[in-house]
Amino acid sequence: MAVNVNEYYENIQNNYLFVEIARRVDKYQEENPDADLIKMGIGDVTKPLVKSVIKAFHNAVDEMADADKFRGYGPEQGYDFLIEDVIENDFKPLGVELKNSEVFISDGAKCDTGNFQELFSQDNIIAVTDPVYPVYVDSNVMAGRSGKPTDDGFYENIVYLPCTAENDFVPELPKEDVDIIYLCYPNNPTGTTLTKDQLKVWVDYAHEKNALILFDAAYEAFISTDNVPHSIYEIEGAKEVAVEFRSYSKTAGFTGTRCGYCVVPEEIFIKNSKGEDVQLNPLWNRRQSTKFNGASYPVQRAAQAIYTDEGKKEIRENLDYYLENAKVIRDNLEKIGLKVYGGVDSPYIWFKTPDDIDSWTFFDILLDQANVVSTPGAGFGPSGEGYIRLTAFNTYEKTVEAMERIKELKF
Ligand code: MLT
Repeated sequence: MAVNVNEYYENIQNNYLFVEIARRVDKYQEENPDADLIKMGIGDVTKPLVKSVIKAFHNAVDEMADADKFRGYGPEQGYDFLIEDVIENDFKPLGVELKNSEVFISDGAKCDTGNFQELFSQDNIIAVTDPVYPVYVDSNVMAGRSGKPTDDGFYENIVYLPCTAENDFVPELPKEDVDIIYLCYPNNPTGTTLTKDQLKVWVDYAHEKNALILFDAAYEAFISTDNVPHSIYEIEGAKEVAVEFRSYSKTAGFTGTRCGYCVVPEEIFIKNSKGEDVQLNPLWNRRQSTKFNGASYPVQRAAQAIYTDEGKKEIRENLDYYLENAKVIRDNLEKIGLKVYGGVDSPYIWFKTPDDIDSWTFFDILLDQANVVSTPGAGFGPSGEGYIRLTAFNTYEKTVEAMERIKELKF
C-alpha cells in the first residue's frame, strides 16, 4: 500500500508568495540582527481593531460565558444579524437588492476565493489578469485545472491577461474561449481600478460567452474616485454572471480576526454534465454546509459593529490614515523619478523598477540597502516582472521613514 500525493500539487511552482518573502526576510534578519526592517510587503494592517468592534467582540465573548446566551454551532452561512447589515449597508446604498440567502459569511476572502473553484469542472478554462493575487492561480493548479508550469512562469491551460503600464492596466478580453474569469478591483497587486464602463465590458462578455466572473472586491473600501464601481452588481446584468467576494481584513483590520463574505446571486446558472442548467447558489451552500462551520459568533458580532454609526466613523478614520500613507509613498517615489501606479483607490502602490532591474533583485536592494520589505512584482505573475509593490499599511511614521531611506538609495 502507498499513499500517493495529489499529483497536481507537483505542478505547483514555488512556495506561496508571502511565505517565500517571510522566509527570505527572516533569514536576512537572522544574518543582520541590528537591521531595523520596515515591513511594506504583505498587505497586513497595523492599526488595532476600532473601539466599537472591540466592544461588540467583548460583549459577545461574555455572552458565550452565560448559559442563557451561549451559542454552539451557528448557521454555516452566517448569522442573519450580520447578513442583514451587509445587505443594508454594503449593497442597498448602491441600488443593489439582495436576499439573505445570497450572502455567505466566511472566515475571509482568501478562503472563499481559494475554495470557490471546487464547484467547477476540471475542464473549465480559467482566465486571470497578470499580475494576480496568487491564490486564484495556485488553488486552480492544486485542483488540476492547469497543465504543467512553463519555463517562463506561466501554467499551461490557464489564460493570462496582461495588465501593464503599456495597456494602462486594463485587461483585454481573452482571444481564446474561457469559462471562469477572476477579476480583482481595486486590483491587488497593481492598485489600479476599472471604471463602470470598463467593468461593463466584462459583464457583457460573460453574458455573450456564458462565462462566470469571480469578482474580488476586498479593497472596495479604499475607493475614493467617482465612477469606480464598489460592487460588480452596480453593472447591469452582473447578477446573472458574477460572484462577489468581500473582506473585513483591510476594511476593518480583521487580518487576524478573520471574517468576510461572498455573494452568490440566485440568478446564476451553470451547466451539469448533461448540459442542463444548475443553480450555483445551492452548490456553494452545499459546499459550505459540508466543509465549514461558520465564522465564530463573537467574530460576526465584531464585524457587525462596523455598520453602526460609530463603527463606520472609526473605520473611515483608519482607511483615510492608510490612504494618506499611500499618498506619501506615491509622492515620494514620483519625486525620485519612478513611474508609480495605484495608491489612490487602493492601499497598494505599484512601481516600475529603475533601469529595468528585475523584481527580485530590486526586492533584495530594498531589503539590504534600505531595510524596507517590499513584494516583487514577478511573484504575482510574469507580467509583474520589473515592478515592485509596496503597501500603505504600516504606520505613518514608518512609511515616511521608509521613503527617506529609499530616496537615499543610488540607482
Ligand atoms: C496581500 O498582501 O496581497 C494580501 O495581504 C494577501 C491576502 O490578503 O491574503
